[in-house]
Amino acid sequence: MGVVLITGASSGIGQEFAEALAAQGRDLLLVARSQDKLAATAGRLHATHGVMVHTLALDLAAPGASGQVTSFVQQQNLTVDWLINNAGFGDYGAVATQAPARLTAMVNLNITTLMELTCQYLPAMRIRGEGVILNVASIAGFQPMPYLAVYAATKAFVLSFSEALWAENRAFGVEVLALCPGPTETAFFTAARMPYPGWSVPAAQVVTEALAAVNQRRANVVTGGWRNQVIVNLARWLPREPLVSLLESQFRPPAAAPNGDYHAE
Ligand SMILES: NC(=O)c1ccc[n+]([C@@H]2O[C@H](COP(=O)([O-])OP(=O)(O)OC[C@H]3O[C@@H](n4cnc5c(N)ncnc54)[C@H](OP(=O)(O)O)[C@@H]3O)[C@@H](O)[C@H]2O)c1
Repeated sequence: MGVVLITGASSGIGQEFAEALAAQGRDLLLVARSQDKLAATAGRLHATHGVMVHTLALDLAAPGASGQVTSFVQQQNLTVDWLINNAGFGDYGAVATQAPARLTAMVNLNITTLMELTCQYLPAMRIRGEGVILNVASIAGFQPMPYLAVYAATKAFVLSFSEALWAENRAFGVEVLALCPGPTETAFFTAARMPYPGWSVPAAQVVTEALAAVNQRRANVVTGGWRNQVIVNLARWLPREPLVSLLESQFRPPAAAPNGDYHAE
């Protein structure tokens, strides 16, 4: 059975992808850690749209997680028609004060699992001559971000990796999109322990813009309006050192000492 595999489908943007694609009649495989939330979403979408919704509760930051997803897919005899690599998190603060294990988990989730799942399902999509891989990057991936340093670097990876794959695979019928949301109304900011930006948009709007970009066969899409378009173009207009110094002053946590000795907790 062909499914849309969505990571991080228990809340926010991933949950909105599940809602939108179920409404199109697509069967789903939803993955996140929160089994209760996944089960509630699966039950509702099956009842509302009549689609099959599989769920897998898994920590995708743990080593070997992508292999566990693949084992489940094989056991259930599923075919992954669309892969939406959405699960991710950030952490606000100076790197010198952040917990190294949390940063490692961020890299594992935002980069390693995303890359491994992409490599797992891309070859079969090429053989079938169709498929969609939608990787969730961020406007943070277009330039360095002091106090979100590791997060922004992970999203730069996602953006670069996905755009290269777009070019490699479009002749094979496989669409690859780097989705680059600006601030979006989800639990992201609570998890990252950072203030909520004023110009956030609903997650449903991000998903609508993303699905339109898939239909347009685009390599990337920046969602959420003109402010985000300005931000992603700053690196074109400003030399790198003034740019990163400006961002440091804008994002410096209120309690930060001059040496960056700050922790958001
Ligand atoms: N919100 C924004 O402003 C914004 C802007 C740009 C990019 N993004 C990106 O959008 C994506 C979705 O985030 P969101 O905004 O929708 O935030 P969210 O509401 O916090 O959703 C994050 C999702 O990822 C899952 N997740 C987190 N850690 C996980 C782990 N170790 N293993 C498995 N699943 C895990 C969470 O589920 P569980 O907790 O149940 O595991 C949840 O379903 C992320 O990649 C984020 O970086 C967000």
